[in-house]
Amino acid sequence: MQKIIGPYLLLEATEDDIWEVMKVNEVTLPEHYTPEFYMEIYENFPDGFLVVKLNGKIVGYEMNRLEHGLSNFGFSFVKKGHVVSIAVLEDHRNKGLGTALLNESMRKMKENGCSEAYLEVRISNEPAIRLYKKLGFAVIRTIPYYYSDGESAYVMAKKL
Ligand code: ACO
Ligand code: ZN
Repeated sequence: MQKIIGPYLLLEATEDDIWEVMKVNEVTLPEHYTPEFYMEIYENFPDGFLVVKLNGKIVGYEMNRLEHGLSNFGFSFVKKGHVVSIAVLEDHRNKGLGTALLNESMRKMKENGCSEAYLEVRISNEPAIRLYKKLGFAVIRTIPYYYSDGESAYVMAKKL
């Protein structure tokens, strides 16, 4: 899969992309992970590990995990896609890259048998929350003190 978005290219990550994804994560989010964590996510759902490149350089990524568990929409056991982390470098925001990453990953989740997608987001993260709402995610519940600095998270979910 390769999608052209103006000068950008949206495509599946390879293992070699992970170091550069880690660098984008370092400068965009307070939540960082070990290389092993990235590899684990990559191996769980390689098709759902997406990057956006500009002239070969990674400017955005989204990584997702396939999970089995309780539905966010009722008492049933379902396969769901977990948006673990999404970020776009500041200079490249508001150009539709976040929207493209999420739309493509949700297509992949559906293709892989998921009936819903979900994520956690800081309750103060307005740009991200607005993006998720625009794409049909709804706030399901709040998890107090979810982040290490004490901030709460919204769990947001969408039926696929
Ligand atoms: N203020 C308010 N809303 C905004 C802003 C902003 N500064 N920027 C984007 N949005 C909203 C708008 O609703 C926009 O839709 P519109 O253009 O139709 O009005 C929508 O987001 C989508 O914009 P995109 O251009 O598609 O998204 P972008 O490429 O800017 O990426 C992202 C959005 C990923 C949230 C980006 O702001 C980012 O990297 N932020 C820092 C990292 C982060 O917070 N990641 C999410 C953490 S939660 C998680 O990973 C599960
Ligand atoms: Zn999560």
